[in-house]
Amino acid sequence: MCGIVGYSGSKKALPILLEGLKSLEYRGYDSAGISLKTDKIYTVKTKGKIVDLITLITESRLDTKASIGIGHTRWATHGHPTSTNAHPHTTKNVAIVHNGIIENYRDLEAYLKEKGFSRATDTDSEIVALLIEYFLEKYDFFEAFSKTIAKLEGSFAIAAISTKADYIAVAKHESPLVIGIGNNETFIASDVAALIEYTNNFIFLEDGDIARIEKGNIEIFDKDKNLARRKITTINWSKQKAQKGGFKHFMLKEINEEDEAVRNTIQSRIMPDGRLILEELDGMEEILKNTDRITIVACGTSYYAGLTAKPVLEKFTGVKVDVEIGSEFRYYNYIYSKNNLFVAISQSGETADTKEPLKMAKNNGIPTISIVNVKESAIARIADRCIYTLAGPEISVASTKAFVSQLAVLYMLALYMGHLKGKDNSKEARYLLKMPHLIKETFNMADKTANSIAKAYCKYKNYLYLGRGICYPLALEGALKLKEISYIHAEGYPAGEMKHGPIALIDEQTPSVVVAHPHEPYYSKTLSNCEEIKSRGGKIILVSSKPHPIADETIQIPDVNYDFAGFVYVIPLQLFAYYSALYLGHDIDQPRNLAKSVTVE
Ligand code: F6R
Repeated sequence: MCGIVGYSGSKKALPILLEGLKSLEYRGYDSAGISLKTDKIYTVKTKGKIVDLITLITESRLDTKASIGIGHTRWATHGHPTSTNAHPHTTKNVAIVHNGIIENYRDLEAYLKEKGFSRATDTDSEIVALLIEYFLEKYDFFEAFSKTIAKLEGSFAIAAISTKADYIAVAKHESPLVIGIGNNETFIASDVAALIEYTNNFIFLEDGDIARIEKGNIEIFDKDKNLARRKITTINWSKQKAQKGGFKHFMLKEINEEDEAVRNTIQSRIMPDGRLILEELDGMEEILKNTDRITIVACGTSYYAGLTAKPVLEKFTGVKVDVEIGSEFRYYNYIYSKNNLFVAISQSGETADTKEPLKMAKNNGIPTISIVNVKESAIARIADRCIYTLAGPEISVASTKAFVSQLAVLYMLALYMGHLKGKDNSKEARYLLKMPHLIKETFNMADKTANSIAKAYCKYKNYLYLGRGICYPLALEGALKLKEISYIHAEGYPAGEMKHGPIALIDEQTPSVVVAHPHEPYYSKTLSNCEEIKSRGGKIILVSSKPHPIADETIQIPDVNYDFAGFVYVIPLQLFAYYSALYLGHDIDQPRNLAKSVTVE
């Protein structure tokens, strides 16, 4: 949440900052701003989105040749989303941008008040600018910056510029910050997507790092103030992957890319004969063989991927699986078993509520694996091992292709552990290889129907999403997608649980989306639940490979083995949410109140 960007080189910084902010906008979009430095610092900031910032910059005729600058797009935590509270925060000689939360800002405010400095905004972040300004009375800019950082508690990625220096000072602790290496120029950003247009070479700062960036010259100091060498990572995401490529929204583009995302994730890891090569787990064989419980922790859509994979993990490995919500797990006294394996799932790799449980598991001596999409992100680095989903950049705030890619990794993990425990599951591994093809077929089959049903149904204000077995977590994921982008209230429920309460909600105005696999052990029971809905006047939208006369509408999809239903059944649910939001005229890629990569608690 919140995106920061910076440039130091020989080119004009302004267009680079604005392009970077556009790519980071999914991290927050309630206000935005930039600061540019020549002999003085120019700052423009406003409430609203990057387009509003661009309008303001054009109106203010800001045309500076500045080749050093910083920018920010905000997701408000402290202080309303107003122009005043927008970043950069400035003092006489300093401008800063910040992503994270300064937890001790009230103590620091009291400290500064005594020295005659007070805040002009409601934000925690302004404290950083004030502290640097205070220390500048005695020290040079980098020393003042370092002294400021040493006083901060909480999470932060900070970039600062000053009238007194020709470089950007940056610091990272618990919030992401990446340095992009150019030719005699350096970029900084909250993530790689903002910089992929300019470079493929990146340095990922570590917690506690402080750096001075002047054109192509980068000096990094670790938490003990020693000059640090950090490795350069090459990321071969193409520029096109971070662009809409002719699609109206990133979300639709990314739903379209789901077959490719799964193909990339599995193709070098499953051999045509069904053998699995998971190099990431080399040397961990004994641990995996002896594992007697798997604890999966994740949030949101990643959590639902865990829930969807749970029965399959249990079936293929014979091991009990717990799937836990990150924000709950971190304050819960979880009792591990003797040979527990901990698995963290996160698209962004930065979700605070998933990162903390992962650290806790490590501190308890539990072997950890993370399943992450963003290279070198915190969750990828903290875990003992990381298996990357190779989905490419996911820009849409509503997560889609990450879900199926996470399933792909979880299934491979299940099959691999099963194999280590002596099971022959090469047939299932070969079946997994069919998923990309089935996903594409599903998209082609479901797209038009999901579109037309959404058009007819988007007027309804409440929905139930129902399923049993593996279709239940899919119902939860379908309801989440509808809620977050169309703002329609939707509740996911196990179909059999209806009669214990939610059935009271059913009437002509509350349609139910029923996710039903025809070969599921309780298909007929799900149909009985449909009868109960019909007899109370409720409408039914059936998502299934087999149409049934009980449904008012059916989104038909290809037949798929029940254990693998998640890969296929989720697609129509994503499409239905997408088209509902489209017909309601919502900002699909930037839904209100949300931001991708939730780095705060
Ligand atoms: C839903 C969505 C969120 C994320 C959740 C976890 O569409 O995007 O629910 O799934 O915030 O994010 P990651 O996977 O980055 O940890």
